[in-house]
Amino acid sequence: MNNQTILDILTQTSEYVSGQSLAAQLGVTRQAVWKEIRALRARGYVIESVTNRGYRLTVLPEYLNAAAVRRSLTAKIIGCELEVLESVGSTNDYLKARGANGCKSGTVAAAREQVSGKGRLGRTWQSSKDENVMFSVLIRPQIAPPDAAAVTPLTGLAVCKALRRFTGLDCRIKWPNDVIIGSKKVVGILTEMSAEFDAVEYVVTGIGVNVDVQAFPEEIAQKATSLWLESGVHYDKNKLLAALLNQLEEEFLRNNLELSANALEEYTALCASLGRTVCFSRGGSTVTGKATGISKGGELLVTLENGEVLAVNSGEVTAQGIY
Ligand code: BTN
Repeated sequence: MNNQTILDILTQTSEYVSGQSLAAQLGVTRQAVWKEIRALRARGYVIESVTNRGYRLTVLPEYLNAAAVRRSLTAKIIGCELEVLESVGSTNDYLKARGANGCKSGTVAAAREQVSGKGRLGRTWQSSKDENVMFSVLIRPQIAPPDAAAVTPLTGLAVCKALRRFTGLDCRIKWPNDVIIGSKKVVGILTEMSAEFDAVEYVVTGIGVNVDVQAFPEEIAQKATSLWLESGVHYDKNKLLAALLNQLEEEFLRNNLELSANALEEYTALCASLGRTVCFSRGGSTVTGKATGISKGGELLVTLENGEVLAVNSGEVTAQGIY
């Protein structure tokens, strides 16, 4: 078969397509077409077949699948190449390998299951199959490595805005880019980069949204939540992924991949860390202060008791009242 698949052809039309036409378009035999139709049906696609008319796709499966995501995708660059993997170690690792092999800027890899999902600061990210939305986006910005720091807050902003719009829930950002509801985390974001001394080769941003989790393991139950737990609604994961990709593209393009004045204002308005007492470690000791702002470079500005303002740009910051 060539690059186009039966699924691509059937999802682009609501008409019947004959087996002969499918075989001719793909350059395969009619037996190969029939075999693929059977395999698609086994994966949950409902494909009607009518003698002398051919095949028609009527129902897409509920689980994450590229054909259903594309139906709601308006973004042109982010998701230009879109794969949904049945199972993978980590979508970030998968996409970094594709990045090293030259895949296009905007390529997205999502997965129904990750068996070694990664979190920030060397942690793991666990999820049962088909329970959540997990994906990574690769971009190739023509910028110097320090300028790529803006991708982190811009991604947090885009994800937070998309979720607010899609669910109506009061999602907020916990600096630098976790998304929370109330005091609990609902989204984790992990950004990785490959760069030469003076140029970025690619940035991979991995996003995990807790969608349908009904109960978290005891050790994180006080810290984590899901869209289902907050709303009692099982959101359509395919539409949700498309909404996230659409918003990411809008935010990246609108702000030229910079933390523009407008993005900084929106980020600040949604940032739940501000105004709280925060602790972080510096030079081997724990520093406590009040989070009072976000710098143009996306750092958290912390005002100490003596009035000194410190800019924090990495590591773990604990904010009082948030997990
Ligand atoms: C964190 O909050 O610690 C970041 C979690 C990031 C999880 C996502 S799920 C999709 C992508 N693939 C990974 O292995 N990790 C990210």
